[in-house]
Amino acid sequence: MLLRGYARRLALPVRLLRRPKLAQELPNRERRVGKLKRRLKEERQEAKQLKREVHRLKQLVGRPPVGEVSLLRRLDPISATFGFERGQPIDRYYIENFLARQAGDIRGRVLEIRENVYTRRFGGEGVEVSDVLDVADDNRRATIHADLTRADHVPSDAFDCVILTQTLHFVYDVRSAAHTLYRILKPGGVLLATFPGISKTSCKECGKGGEHYSWMFTEMSARRLFEETFPAADVRVEAHGNVLAAVSFLHGLAREELRQEELDQHDPDYEVLITLRAMKPEATPR
Ligand SMILES: C[S@@+](CC[C@H](N)C(=O)[O-])C[C@H]1O[C@@H](n2cnc3c(N)ncnc32)[C@H](O)[C@@H]1O
Repeated sequence: MLLRGYARRLALPVRLLRRPKLAQELPNRERRVGKLKRRLKEERQEAKQLKREVHRLKQLVGRPPVGEVSLLRRLDPISATFGFERGQPIDRYYIENFLARQAGDIRGRVLEIRENVYTRRFGGEGVEVSDVLDVADDNRRATIHADLTRADHVPSDAFDCVILTQTLHFVYDVRSAAHTLYRILKPGGVLLATFPGISKTSCKECGKGGEHYSWMFTEMSARRLFEETFPAADVRVEAHGNVLAAVSFLHGLAREELRQEELDQHDPDYEVLITLRAMKPEATPR
């Protein structure tokens, strides 16, 4: 039985294996083959480990040696207030560049959250009415007091543009807020929104209703959220930043402390700030 099995495996006639010497040698050969197979397996595993190590070492070439990075070895940030006292916060650099590029959308009846600084700065003469919305009832600049997640008293089809900078991350029920934003825009109206990506997670200065973040966004989550409500073809989302901008922003360095080309370099692995333009479709003619 055993011999027949070997013969089949070695593709030899059984009679050859009946030779006593060969029959004696076979079990030894089997053991050697087994040993070689085990060694091959071990060497393959070792080769894999070496490949991983080579990859790791290649990544270290030209970088500060492990244990010698002292630049960021501090437990308190350089600025705990986004760098306002040092200059322009890095996220505001991306926000304001975005609004400047979209200035043409800021026209007609414009709604902004908390204050109308950006409506006035970027909207210019095209703005006919400027409204301010806030959930905080002590905000005297607000012309509308409402929670974006249940704002039934805010009229539908009312605004040509909504400027929603750095607000949605405070709102837990982002889906309801996205529906409200769609509902209150006029057909053809535009939402200009920005969201934090890599950021500190609270803002004491952001006022009542705006202290603790519920969320951080990525290009993908912002896109998916708004494509649930707005037609996908009318949603444009972009991420901004890179590792230097991210680390600097976390530490509260100001825009002025980085070179423009350093801020403008886009690395999709480090999304510091997300911008979104979404348009409600024009009413379809009957
Ligand atoms: C940091 S401010 C953002 C707006 C400001 N224009 C800016 O660019 O920084 C956040 C504002 O969102 C408001 N807010 C928080 N949750 C809200 C909600 N559910 N509905 C409406 N406003 C809300 C806060 O009261 C606060 O005024």
